[in-house]
Parts: sequence; C-alpha cells; structure tokens
Amino acid sequence: MGVANWAPDSWRSHEGLQMPEYSDGAALAATEQQLGSYPPLTFAGESRALLNDLAQVQKGEAFLLQGGDCAESFAEFHPNNIRDTFRVLLQMAVVLTFASKLPIVKVGRMAGQFAKPRSAPTETVEGVELPSYRGDIVNDIAFTADGREPDPQRMVQAYNQAAATLNLLRAFAQGGYANLHQVHRWTLEFMGRSPWAKKFAETADRIGEALDFMKACGINAETVPQLKATSFYTSHEALLLPYEQALTRQDSLTGQWYDTSAHMLWIGDRTRFEGSAHVEYLRGIGNPIGMKCGPSLEPDALIRLLDTLNPDRVPGRVTLITRYGHDKIEAGLPKLVRAVLREGHPVIWSCDPMHGNVVKAANGFKTRPFERILAEVRGFFAVHRAEGSFGGGIHCEMTGQNVTECTGGAIAITDEGLADRYHTHCDPRLNAAQSLELAFLLAEMLNDELAERRKAAA
Ligand code: TRP
Ligand code: MN
Repeated sequence: MGVANWAPDSWRSHEGLQMPEYSDGAALAATEQQLGSYPPLTFAGESRALLNDLAQVQKGEAFLLQGGDCAESFAEFHPNNIRDTFRVLLQMAVVLTFASKLPIVKVGRMAGQFAKPRSAPTETVEGVELPSYRGDIVNDIAFTADGREPDPQRMVQAYNQAAATLNLLRAFAQGGYANLHQVHRWTLEFMGRSPWAKKFAETADRIGEALDFMKACGINAETVPQLKATSFYTSHEALLLPYEQALTRQDSLTGQWYDTSAHMLWIGDRTRFEGSAHVEYLRGIGNPIGMKCGPSLEPDALIRLLDTLNPDRVPGRVTLITRYGHDKIEAGLPKLVRAVLREGHPVIWSCDPMHGNVVKAANGFKTRPFERILAEVRGFFAVHRAEGSFGGGIHCEMTGQNVTECTGGAIAITDEGLADRYHTHCDPRLNAAQSLELAFLLAEMLNDELAERRKAAA
C-alpha cells in the first residue's frame, strides 16, 4: 500500500529549490547508500501516535507546542544544550497544561533540524563570492572556499548527532526527568531574576499540592505512569531531500512509507509551491506534516496543496504554520482561514510568530523584538476568533541557553545588549526566560479562546 504514482525518489523529476550542488556525484551516491543501510531514527508507530495526538489538536481537544533551535549545529552539540532546551519546553508545557487544562502535544525542532533555506545561493564578503551557508548538514559556516563546499559526509555526521540527541530526549522523556514530581527542578539558576520564574514556582507549588492530594487518594506515579513520563516528538524542515530519501522506509505493518528521520516533517515557505520536489516528497510519506504559510500564499493554491498533501482529509495529517509578521497577519491570514473552512479541510492552525518579525538592530544584529512576537500571537488568535476557527498551536525558535538574540521581555534585552551572548547559527532565538514568559502570556490568550469556545457551544 502506498500513495499512487509516488516513490521515495519521485521528487527527483520535480523542481527542487534550496538544495546544494554536490561537485562529487559519486561521493553523494555512496553517502546516500550508506545512510540507506543505517537504522531508522524513528518508528512508524510513533509517527502514527503523533498523528493521533494531532487529531485531538485538530478537534480542539489538545494544543501543539513545537519549538527548538532555528538550526542545530555540530559545534553546539552538547548534552547540556539538549537538556536545557528540553527543560524549557517542559516548563512551557506545564504552564500551558495547568492554565488551559488541555493536553499539550510536545514536538521539538530538535534531533535533525540542520538544513537551512537561504535568500541567495551565494554570499559576497569584501569582493569574495562563495556559496551561502546552508546548515551544518550541507557545509560549514566559516567563510572559506573549503568550508562552503557542500560535503555529503556531513549528512552522516548529522545522522549520528540526531541519533544521539534523540536517544537522550527519549531517556529524559521516559526515564524520570520529565516526572511531574520534578516540576520544581526544571528551573534554571540564571532565570532567578525573571518575574516569570517566581510565577513558575507558584504554578509548581499548586501542581505539587494537587499531586499530594492525588497521592493520598491512591493515585501516584506507580499507579498512573502518565505522571512520570511524557511523549516527546521530533521534527525538522524536510529540505535536504537526498538525506530524507535515504531515511525513508516502508513500514512492515502497513506497507506505508515513512520518513524515519523524525516524527514530523515540515515544508518551508520557499519550497511549498505547487509541483515542487518538496511537495512531491512529502505527499507520499505517512508522517504528520507541517507547511509554512506566509503572505505570498494565495487561498486557491493553498487548497490545491492541501488536496495534494492530504487527499483523504485525515485529521492531524496537516499543520499549517502561519508566519506573517505582527503587522501583516490581520490582513493576510483571514483569506486562508476562510478558504480552508469553505473546503472543509481538517487542518491544525499553528502560529509561528518568529519568521515574519525579523528586524535589523542599529548595530547590525538580526533580532526579533519580543513585543512583535507577542503581537503576532495576539493577532493570530484574534483572526481565528473572528473567522469562526481556532488556534491550535505555537511554533517557536527558542533555546534553554541564556542568550541575547531577541530584544525585549521582562528582563529587557536592549539593542546594545544583543552583543553579549549572540550565539545563533541562523535566526535569533528566544532565550529560556523569554520562552517561559511567552508560555504564560500564551496561556492567558489560550484560556480566553477556550472561554469563547465554551460560550459559543452553550
Ligand atoms: N504525561 C502527561 C503529559 O505528557 C503529564 C506529564 C508528565 C507532563 N510529565 C510532564 C506534562 C511534563 C508536561 C510536562 O502531558
Ligand atoms: Mn529560522
């Protein structure tokens, strides 16, 4: 069984943008073969479990939290980085669960988020023109001819790093770290100055009290394993198709093809045009998929893409991740929402408040002002409420590290402060304190939305 007229390599006869030219075709083919013989990183049954969880989101009975680095890097591969990002995602999930009383579906932009689309194929510095950096899975960020040469062996290193990252994430999620009884310990020392750290401690107290009460009633982590573990899924942009194809495997239980490089894959705003290689590839895999939607996407094209990507209209299969910009969302998003409602396509609407809100600070740093991020989330909920739809998720670029990449927030980062700890390999990320702050403010908006929905249903 599978999708008609599709094969793991059928994308090769379509227009594929944003992929590197490898000068050594034989080396590329050898690497693809090597990766093709390696174990899958994920199992089809896990992607089906995520599909079921996302079907709950699509019905409005759960909420999607997706977040992590803009781009993972080989240089920052360290257990503490993985732990800290995971920890902030747990904190955000707890805040959202406690406030909304909805299950939160947790998906990391982790364990495979290496490939980056670029606005230009080359970069010129002081008269020297070299290929653009396309992420560590393709070439090196160092601006040298050697470094920028795409190297297929980097795919093997990315695979190995993804495998080790996923292994640790599974251990954290299932092995006790994510136990709700640990909720007080998920805080980070450097966040002590944030007023939201105090608010988190209060939430943790109340959860602890609820757990104590339940314990007295005979409900504890031994009797109810859900208290001591969580489901944590991985995702990345399916951009480098030779890599994705090499990890595409047929599920022996169903005969369906799955991309086993992650549980969920998304398609970027630059590669989601009709007939593209990336659309062709994604339409054939059984994983839940995301699609970024920006101002250039017209409603008719969106509907045709949905017909291609989800012809059977499976709930949870498609998440539309909108990224307009704080000042464009209220004008741009309604026409997409109307078209989707009119056609009855079951989609999840998720808000990416990051990619439409990049500005250049006076001192040259690429940044994202926290107020604009927040304003886009507010606009997102407002549009859905006005159109009779609802917001089902958030997609953010964040890290557990104490970086200074986005301005604003309760511990206000100024333009001048950006230089202190600006570490990103790509776009500016929310730091741990800003991420937690966003979760609290988002929880309020989500609660308002839920109250509206209950009113409408009554
Ligand atoms: N298993 C539940 C869930 O994942 C409860 C839970 C356990 C939880 N550990 C968690 C929720 C950590 C949020 C964060 O939702
Ligand atoms: Mn990014």
